[in-house]
Amino acid sequence: MKEQLKQMEKEALHLIESAKDSAALESARLKFLGKKGELTSILRGMGALSAEERPVAGQIANEVRAAIENAIASRFENIEALMLEAKLKHEKIDVTMPGTPVKIGTKHPLNIVLDEIREIFLGLGFSVAEGPEVEYDYYNFEALNIPKYHPARDTQDTFYVSDNIVLRTQTSPMQIRTMENTKPPIRVIAPGRVYRSDAVDATHSPLFHQIEGIVVDKNVTMGDLKGILELFAKKLYGDDTVVRFRPHHFPFTEPSAEMDVMCFMCHGKGCRLCKGEGFIEILGCGMIHPNVLRVCNIDPEEYSGFAFGMGLERLVMRRYKIDDMRMFYENDVRFLSQF
Ligand code: DAH
Repeated sequence: MKEQLKQMEKEALHLIESAKDSAALESARLKFLGKKGELTSILRGMGALSAEERPVAGQIANEVRAAIENAIASRFENIEALMLEAKLKHEKIDVTMPGTPVKIGTKHPLNIVLDEIREIFLGLGFSVAEGPEVEYDYYNFEALNIPKYHPARDTQDTFYVSDNIVLRTQTSPMQIRTMENTKPPIRVIAPGRVYRSDAVDATHSPLFHQIEGIVVDKNVTMGDLKGILELFAKKLYGDDTVVRFRPHHFPFTEPSAEMDVMCFMCHGKGCRLCKGEGFIEILGCGMIHPNVLRVCNIDPEEYSGFAFGMGLERLVMRRYKIDDMRMFYENDVRFLSQF
């Protein structure tokens, strides 16, 4: 049996040494050490040996097994090194070749302009707040001096989650939330999504964006409102921008106004863009109604303030001469990559 084992070891070591790859090595392992391999079949003959011979044969068998296992392990390392070397020889990397270009996105035009507007107001000492798009009827209407029967609700029909919860139709509820949570002096803008039950066309969308602004302090006047908003328009559209204020009505401000900027196409003469007006409306504004201050526990005898609200889409359409609002939401890269 000893000769048999030694003979097997010799054969095994030879086969292992000549194995060219890991598959050949594995088949050599199975041939000698596998369950149905040669070592097992030789050991089956152990029963025929005498009690003295058996441990000796067992020891030799163990030595042979260890020798074969070691040979396999070291051959395996060799093979791996050889394969790596072959791979490196074969694979040439030219580091001077241009890389595969990675496509990166661009900022959405709505965000480009919103970021600019943010910067302008941050520079004027405002901070930026955000509020919920799913809003209580109370904040969206009631506290803004728009009770249940008020006709102003007609133009702001929206999606009702329940009788007293709506998708906000304007960012104006942030006026209330801000005044409830902060003591004057207050200087805040609140950009965000708003919703209305409007059919989609070139100038309407059931989802759009507004930016609200609010200032509350002692002795705030209509003069402050006009100064700040004119400065804002000049920063956004350029120093030669001409603005005008027209009286208007909003339930939550008194007096109320709309601010127009002089048409940049015809410079006030009247053209197709401004529909012959010479001016284009960009925002609504006014002095905060005493009722609104009162529901926020701010004493209108002590404090006053102004508020304004503008539609982001309209500002951006004007900036880039985009004539169809649907472009903003379609995510067409041919459109988006132009900015
Ligand atoms: N929320 C108004 C709207 O959607 C816009 C607005 C007008 C906001 C006057 C104001 C404001 O804060 O003072 O039509």
